[in-house]
Amino acid sequence: MSKRTVLTGITTTGTPHLGNYVGAIRPAIQASHIDGVQSCYFLADYHALIKCRDPEVVQRSTLEIAATWLALGLDTDKAIFYRQSDIPEISELTWLLTCSTAKGLMNRAHAYKAAVQENLEKSVDADFGITMGLFSYPILMAADILMFNATDVPVGRDQVQHLEMARDIAQRFNHHFGQHFVLPEAVVDDDVAVLPGQDGRKMSKSYNNSIPLWLPEKKLRKAIMKIVTNSLEPGEPKQTEDSTLYAIYSAFANTGQRAEMKQAYADGIGWGDAKQQCFELINSELAAARANYEELISNPGEIESRLQEGAERARAHTIPFIQRLRSAVGIRSLVNL
Ligand code: TRP
Repeated sequence: MSKRTVLTGITTTGTPHLGNYVGAIRPAIQASHIDGVQSCYFLADYHALIKCRDPEVVQRSTLEIAATWLALGLDTDKAIFYRQSDIPEISELTWLLTCSTAKGLMNRAHAYKAAVQENLEKSVDADFGITMGLFSYPILMAADILMFNATDVPVGRDQVQHLEMARDIAQRFNHHFGQHFVLPEAVVDDDVAVLPGQDGRKMSKSYNNSIPLWLPEKKLRKAIMKIVTNSLEPGEPKQTEDSTLYAIYSAFANTGQRAEMKQAYADGIGWGDAKQQCFELINSELAAARANYEELISNPGEIESRLQEGAERARAHTIPFIQRLRSAVGIRSLVNL
């Protein structure tokens, strides 16, 4: 019971970019090598359905994200790595939790409220385009977490409210049906870099400023050359403080490399040179994994079977646990009353 379980989900929409890598994937993979902690990482494909109605995109993105984590060396002997939809107990738990979650709690969810607000601003019906999937999203997320009695859930700031909701939902269920769930905590790491994109705003697919993680070498170089700088000439001293290029460089550099680059800026390194060094650094960190990625992506069967192994390990826990929860709420065999 006192054992720590770290769990996090990755929504399978889109292609991973450098910002996802630096902010979420790299730290999670490093954590997967730590002994004494059970980590669970999963592909949140049910969550993807909330945002995406293109089946090809959901499937392709699941493939790419799974290949990414495996290519980067996720330790799947230690961590349990699975696809959410392979664990039917999660959807079953979602219903059990739905039945003891206050609608009023869901009304307060930021993502839902923002969608309503947007509608009101456009003077359309408050519920326009809002699905029950979006509305109940926090319950599905609570089921993901509570199913494994996760203690620590690494998430971005935007997900902290969902963790508070998961705790509320767990408490309410425990109150009615007995102590079944551990109350999870959000782990928000403010030291993890929020990587800027090519234009200096946060790297995000929706800003169109992101650099895909697995660009082939030449294209990666091109994308880095497009990072916006200012018009200072080679030989003119440059500032690192407000430099997007420096921020991106730093996310891949060690302390010594950062100090050297700072000095180079002060000494007036040309933007072209600085970009070339940035490219070389990022490329050296990714090159070996990129080869693994390409190999894996052309072997979907291999990825599928790694996921099936993960599902089997996950279900060794979820099958008996859902049995206990079903029984707790009164869904039981009619014999042995
Ligand atoms: N909602 C999370 C996001 O958009 C992804 C997610 C789904 C998740 N289920 C989770 C994260 C459970 C942590 C735990 O980033």
